[in-house]
Amino acid sequence: MIKQNNVSSNLIGRDFLTLTNYQPEEIMYLLELAKEIKQKQKKGEVYQPLKGKVLGLIFEKSSTRTRVSFETGIYQLGGTGLFLSSSDIQLGRGETIADTAKVLSSYLDGIMIRTFAQSDVEELAKNASIPVMNGLTDLYHPCQVLADLQTIQEVKGTLAGLKIAYIGDGNNMAHSLMLGAAKMGMDFSTAAPEGYLPDDSIVKEAKAIANQSSITITTDPKEAVKDADVIYTDVWASMGQESEQAAREKLFAAYQVNEELLTHAKSDYIFMHCLPAHREEEVATAIIDGSHSVVFQEAENRLHAQKALMVALMAGA
Ligand code: CP
Ligand code: NVA
Repeated sequence: MIKQNNVSSNLIGRDFLTLTNYQPEEIMYLLELAKEIKQKQKKGEVYQPLKGKVLGLIFEKSSTRTRVSFETGIYQLGGTGLFLSSSDIQLGRGETIADTAKVLSSYLDGIMIRTFAQSDVEELAKNASIPVMNGLTDLYHPCQVLADLQTIQEVKGTLAGLKIAYIGDGNNMAHSLMLGAAKMGMDFSTAAPEGYLPDDSIVKEAKAIANQSSITITTDPKEAVKDADVIYTDVWASMGQESEQAAREKLFAAYQVNEELLTHAKSDYIFMHCLPAHREEEVATAIIDGSHSVVFQEAENRLHAQKALMVALMAGA
């Protein structure tokens, strides 16, 4: 089993709200642990370091992967997950986040939350005495990026020195992926129409983190994918932006990831998508269902990466 060291002891009890305050060696540790946990599962080995622990899962938005992978993950680790839809708990009727955090901390061992405002997740974490994990906000999706990095490492054998191109909306995925790439020494480029590029302050932050690698922001998708090892995209209208769907389809039409665009990538590129995908919008069916696509391996790794996260924060490996 992976050795306990300064890195692992520093993770116990921590929140995971964004990759910003996670050091590269801490991310690497989580990836190593995720690899081990995946291997154990493939061998049918029972690994239950979270026996008796309970994770609360607060959802203010829909989910397939995040909900099922966290619930399955905590169960496989020996614990139990409680699905807490915001429409069923008092949070949805105006109980404050701070009161919710204090009460839940007296019952649970960890909380995963998916909501709109990053500030709500921060408020929850500030008032909770147990680890809080961000299962997606409008600003970030750090759990997804752990699984993404695990997947890239599995397929490409390395992270540092690779180029990842994210084509599409400068959303939660773009932000967390850019931070993750910068932390792990990967070149990151992104293309979107003017006005839909990633948040300036997060670009600035990623540039400050990236010392050996580059961060490129452009409106030209061909420039972004040039010589890229990893091509990534996400929906053009995220949860909460449904009313903008039609307008965004027009605006983003030139940003579809398709065969023509990918002639500019490296010939052995891999295609990634956090899912759910809208085929024939942000990605051509031939690409997402094609031989370069690793989207289902990526989705599976949500389970392994989040099991590592829960073990590291809620128990210590
Ligand atoms: N990628 C992801 O987070 O999927 P869900 O919205 O299904 O959880
Ligand atoms: N950007 C998407 C990601 C879904 C996993 C959304 O926020 O809806």
